[in-house]
Amino acid sequence: MRATPGSGSSLLFDLVSRLGNLALTFAIGLGLAPLTAGQTAPGGGGTGGSASAVEALRRLKGMDFEANPALKAALMRVVDTTRGTPAFVELVRDFELKDQEEGLLDFAGQHPADPAAAEAIRMILEGGGLESLRAQVRSAAIPRQEAWVQAAANTADPRVIPLLLDAVKAEGRSTTSRAVAIRGLARTEAGARELLRYAAEPNGGLEEPGRTTASLALAQSRWPEVRSEAAKVLPAPKSADGGELPSVNELIRLRGDAVRGAAVFQSEQASCSKCHVAGRVGVDFGPALSQIGTKLGRQALYESILDPSSGISFGYEGWSVETRGGDEVFGILASETDEELAIKQQTGGVVRLKKSEVTRRERQQLSIMPAGLASVLSRQELVDLVEYLTTLKAP
Ligand code: HEC
Repeated sequence: MRATPGSGSSLLFDLVSRLGNLALTFAIGLGLAPLTAGQTAPGGGGTGGSASAVEALRRLKGMDFEANPALKAALMRVVDTTRGTPAFVELVRDFELKDQEEGLLDFAGQHPADPAAAEAIRMILEGGGLESLRAQVRSAAIPRQEAWVQAAANTADPRVIPLLLDAVKAEGRSTTSRAVAIRGLARTEAGARELLRYAAEPNGGLEEPGRTTASLALAQSRWPEVRSEAAKVLPAPKSADGGELPSVNELIRLRGDAVRGAAVFQSEQASCSKCHVAGRVGVDFGPALSQIGTKLGRQALYESILDPSSGISFGYEGWSVETRGGDEVFGILASETDEELAIKQQTGGVVRLKKSEVTRRERQQLSIMPAGLASVLSRQELVDLVEYLTTLKAP
């Protein structure tokens, strides 16, 4: 468990143990010994090195660093050693350090899934940095953009709504980033309403696969009014026996028949086995599903079937490659060297292309796994299929 904001001494203790001797050196370097002279640290004398460093830092916390440049410079030396780690974000927060946007953004860009990344974004917002953050996100390279959008989405803070809306609406954003932003918007009531407003725009604001992502996310919303509005604006995917599928929340409570599900997996309509290996059956094209029940829970299984493009598995993105001869090859990039590209096709075969022959290559924004596979299945077949997938586990 990470220390929560304001957990005072335990956080400091945690910090000191991480900074170790450095903090102690720092305290000594600052001449804190004279400061503490004549006052015994709580808990009496004879405390160990780390306890006195805790005491030192505790004293430091109340100090006015801005009024004391030497003190601030010394603190900053310690802070600098923590750059790129969650401790940096904690120090900036606890010591209310100013002008640290760059370091905070760097951390969020490098570790977007870390809870401290969301905290870093929140601190930037508290400093009134929304507009500059938006501008930076807009002009950043795609991987950075995606990372910042993810960190912002994880804040579940309504102040990031404009930034997440940018990510949903702007041209050229990746499908994954858009999906992350959509789920982030669905986490706050105001964000969910903005998303609904955009989806309801008469000339089709939100496009597929975003509509499916939004439909799945909003159907699970905590706010009943959001759910009922979403049911109108973004109805759930249909199933083959007519009618809408229940929300994923409801689907995960249903139980099916794994044996029938195995038959669905291999069936012509579902065609799962044309792209996936499970046990001894199937084509080795998409990720093997032989242990998917260990990797994904029911909710993630439903989401990967209903909305494949919202979280494309790393290394399984689709590529389209054109050669000098005018051929187009489509598939997964299996490997790449200086001279050669190897593209794995849906047949399971691999095509090798000399790079000197390649005139264009483009990563596809949509998953190679087709959307809408659930709509060729009845609701019971879908539930059976997922039941079967949950049984595919590591031995
Ligand atoms: C045309 C090929 C194709 C078909 C048909 C297909 N898939 Fe996929 N599937 C993929 C590819 C490629 C990926 C990896 C890219 C992605 O995550 O979207 C994938 C990803 C998945 C994942 C996520 C795997 C992981 O490790 O996270 C699951 C689960 C899955 N498919 C299940 C199914 C099921 C069930 C069916 C049948 C209803 C099916 N797929 C049909 C190609 C296919």
